Amino acid sequence: MAHDAESADAALPFHVQENRRYWDEMAHEWVGGGERAWARDEPDWGIWGVPEHELDLLPADMRGLDAVELGCGTGYVSAWMARRGARVTGIDNSAEQLATARRLAAEHGIDLTLVHGDAEATPFADASFDFAISEYGAAIWCDPERWLPEAHRILRPGGRLVFLGHHPWAQVCAPLDGSPVVQRMERPYFELGRLDWTEATIEPGGVEFNLTVSDWFALFRRVGFAVEDYREPRPDPGDDAEDRFFVTRGWARRFPSEQVWKLRKL
Ligand SMILES: C[S@@+](CC[C@H](N)C(=O)[O-])C[C@H]1O[C@@H](n2cnc3c(N)ncnc32)[C@H](O)[C@@H]1O
Repeated sequence: MAHDAESADAALPFHVQENRRYWDEMAHEWVGGGERAWARDEPDWGIWGVPEHELDLLPADMRGLDAVELGCGTGYVSAWMARRGARVTGIDNSAEQLATARRLAAEHGIDLTLVHGDAEATPFADASFDFAISEYGAAIWCDPERWLPEAHRILRPGGRLVFLGHHPWAQVCAPLDGSPVVQRMERPYFELGRLDWTEATIEPGGVEFNLTVSDWFALFRRVGFAVEDYREPRPDPGDDAEDRFFVTRGWARRFPSEQVWKLRKL
């Protein structure tokens, strides 16, 4: 059995294997945040906790909708959708993250279908879902050339895909050693694509992806998504030195640290 699991892992692309290793190892650090997010009824989003009423990522009424979260982690976005009436499936690459999601679903009495797998190649049938979402899951850890066609395949015609992750500006200004963003360009914007953090000095591990804005548009067109909205969440004023992950509040007040894409399957 263990041998089967190992050979299945070995068949995955390098970044999916590396991100599985990284997230299984990091999962214990995400338990507390997951518990707090599960306890909130009103969603807030991203590293700055921008409230749902400012961003409108979820339909207010999701009754009768089949929804999927791609890279669900501890599952709190899935819980928010289930509380709005959706039938929710969450898929995640990390068994450890899913263990937290399963425990919290049981504790909160919320019925979720939770699947261990790769959001770039899911086990779901064509046209299974009306709504797909990723908050820093597939949105940043999956190869857009692979996960966007997959999201398109499993959505029904007219279905919506919403995702939130790092803004290209933040990654252009992020030093390669993993230290916080600076007001200087550290890598070429036109060479974004794959961001490999396995050699970083600070908290090494993981492979992320991002694209230039024009490349995101080109990919959406090629895959068959129409863009309905694009948002750049901004934190409230506060302590400029406050550091969340690799961004400070002062930086994120001046420059966009996050982006939201809202798409519809054509
Ligand atoms: C930051 S969490 C996202 C969940 C939650 N919204 C949050 O912000 O905590 C990132 C999640 O993406 C998952 N992930 C990374 N690569 C993935 C892949 N190829 N398929 C599915 N999930 C993946 C990780 O296992 C991890 O649980």
